[in-house]
Amino acid sequence: MIDQATAQRIKDAADIVEVVSDYVHLVRRGSNYMGLCPFHNERTPSFSVSRKRNFCYCFSCKKGGSPVNFIMEKEGLSYKEALLHLAKKYGIEVQERELSDEERARQSEREALLVANEWAMKLMEQDMRSTQEGRDVGLQYLTQRGVTDEAIKAFHLGYAIDNGQHMVEEARKAGFNLDVFKTLGLIGTSQQGREYDRFRGRVIFPILNNSGKVIAFGGRDLKGGLAKYINSPESQLYKKSNELYGIFQARSAIVNQNKCFLVEGYMDVIGMWQSGMRNVVASSGTALTDGQITLIHRLTDNITLIYDGDAAGIKASLRGIDMLLGHHMNVKVLLLPDNDDPDSFARKHTPEEFQKYVDEHETDIIRFKINVLLTEETARDPQKRIGAVNSVVESIAHIPDPIGRDVYIQECAKLLNVTEDSIAQSVSRAREILIQKWKKERQWGKSGTQHVADDGQQDNGTPVQTATVLTTGVSAQQQQSYAGDLSFRPLELPVIKYCVRYAFLEVFQTEDGESMIDVLEYVSQELEDDNIVFSVPEYRTVFHELQRIRPEFAKVLQQRRASLEEEKKKKMQAGIEEIATQDLSVNEIRIQEKRLEEEIEAWAHEEINDFIKVWPAQMLASHEDDNVRTTATVLLHEKHQLSNIYASAPGNETEESKLDRLVPRAITEWKGEILNNQLRALLRKYHDTAATMTPEEEEKLQLRLNSLMKLRQRLAKEIGDRTLLPR
Ligand code: GTP
Ligand code: MN
Repeated sequence: MIDQATAQRIKDAADIVEVVSDYVHLVRRGSNYMGLCPFHNERTPSFSVSRKRNFCYCFSCKKGGSPVNFIMEKEGLSYKEALLHLAKKYGIEVQERELSDEERARQSEREALLVANEWAMKLMEQDMRSTQEGRDVGLQYLTQRGVTDEAIKAFHLGYAIDNGQHMVEEARKAGFNLDVFKTLGLIGTSQQGREYDRFRGRVIFPILNNSGKVIAFGGRDLKGGLAKYINSPESQLYKKSNELYGIFQARSAIVNQNKCFLVEGYMDVIGMWQSGMRNVVASSGTALTDGQITLIHRLTDNITLIYDGDAAGIKASLRGIDMLLGHHMNVKVLLLPDNDDPDSFARKHTPEEFQKYVDEHETDIIRFKINVLLTEETARDPQKRIGAVNSVVESIAHIPDPIGRDVYIQECAKLLNVTEDSIAQSVSRAREILIQKWKKERQWGKSGTQHVADDGQQDNGTPVQTATVLTTGVSAQQQQSYAGDLSFRPLELPVIKYCVRYAFLEVFQTEDGESMIDVLEYVSQELEDDNIVFSVPEYRTVFHELQRIRPEFAKVLQQRRASLEEEKKKKMQAGIEEIATQDLSVNEIRIQEKRLEEEIEAWAHEEINDFIKVWPAQMLASHEDDNVRTTATVLLHEKHQLSNIYASAPGNETEESKLDRLVPRAITEWKGEILNNQLRALLRKYHDTAATMTPEEEEKLQLRLNSLMKLRQRLAKEIGDRTLLPR
């Protein structure tokens, strides 16, 4: 564990310009730096780096973030690994937090396991080359299958001697405690209590984790036995569902090519790797899991699943589609010609031919599913057709963003010859059911798969005079039930964006006009007034996090103010001396000194203002929680674009200078939509049940409707020109 203070020291030391400069040639442009984006291929620079904000951002592919983010992305590291990477760069000694006894025990067990695995890997690598049996059986098999020496080395392939006692003896000789080997599944114990090697006469595929540590082994049978492969059991080191074969060797290629191929087997990875396609990993014959997808998602948004073209391959390709869609990745499927797997295909074709085949046959996953299900048989049989449509609908419902869903709804309607409306309705029903299910399954804070949609907000400059005080009666609980619906996302986005960017900037007067409150406080009060919460889980998490760091912010702000006083004094002193050396009259000296003081005041004010904006932004953008960091980073990124737009707008007004109008308006629009929603629901209820209602019930509903309508009208006035009647 890196302790909190050290983590902070690393973050403080990491200078974005220096960090990025290790990878990108930067050229100064105004107060920023520009260079060619390291995350995609381009000829004109769109990668911008701001030292002041300690932030980088690609205008074109939209990647970037804090120094920690940049390193995570570029090096494909985890949060902690990225911190260690930066610590090394800046020569910061990492104070590992004191571990508890229990943690220490677990840690040392883990280390013992890693050491044993590493040793076993080396033993089997060596045995394949330096023993007669290893060369005649293991190496001979690999060579005959066309595996190159380079691949054998890169994947640390080895051979397990067939006598049943080899590793037991070697491990004993080396002084190991055999219990460790038993935990790892390298050695077993017979009923008579005799130890034996579990891997015998097999070619060994070591499984390395993301950072290159050996966590397990797969062993391929060479004698035609029943179990083609045996694998290490799960252990503290090896959680099968969180690992991918080849990830260590593929990592940087995945990042550089911004794409990952997923295949089924060990040999497929190696075959493709040899043919130059190095961004490839295998799920090792099991269905893909969330953990594995997350592992890939850290490196790229683009994944292509490669399957054999036979019936089994097609069937397999349809499994797990829905889960993949929920991850907000671009998922494609590639079917190989019948009778080929990636390994054999790579062997038969040049890398160029393979690439060409990929380009021509890769299919978007839902389109693929529609095509597979849309056979002649389903076209003729209405019952089967319904089944097919439902299955596609179910998949579409898994897509997190509404625009993506719409695109597929249209496509699906066309291909399946059904009306768009009916598909759309089925999708939204399916999605409601899904959301209910997800809510039961997990708490909102842990979802971590949804990303922030693009900013759809328009700035039409309509001022909102006062903050709205309304009582929509939307309870936090009711709001909760919208979670996952995400139709409020576009309205919540500007609000959370202003919070992330300007949390502690004081731009609002209290009602008595006596004091100022900051953006976060203002928004908090507005939401509390109407008992509203963010329906988008990530926004809610970020909002809470901002509130949580407020006390710490107060403390560091005070420190910054104090240090600034010192700097001011120094500047003043230097300035006064400079003036004194000039040949000036007493009067002129006074004027100069006065001007100097004003300049320094203005400078200090600007410094504080920057600090107020930059500090919370950096806290969030380098936060250890993936969810907070990703969401905040996206919200902050938009800034550069926005500020550009604003800079060229008439009057040169910045977003910051208009906050007192922008924030209330964003909140009002959001509340308006909540109200609209309630109105729609009430009207629906009214229409559906009017015939069967008692007069009292009808009156009650009427009253409720009227009061909501009135509120709506008042809001409409404040928002200005938008059409507000419920649809
Ligand atoms: P080759 O037959 O040597 O080309 O191996 P392959 O890696 O292509 O194997 P295959 O396509 O048959 O299977 C794909 C993956 O499923 C393998 O790489 C293994 O991870 C896994 N697998 C296959 N057979 C077994 C088995 O008998 N036991 C276990 N545990 N896993 C298996
Ligand atoms: Mn194979």
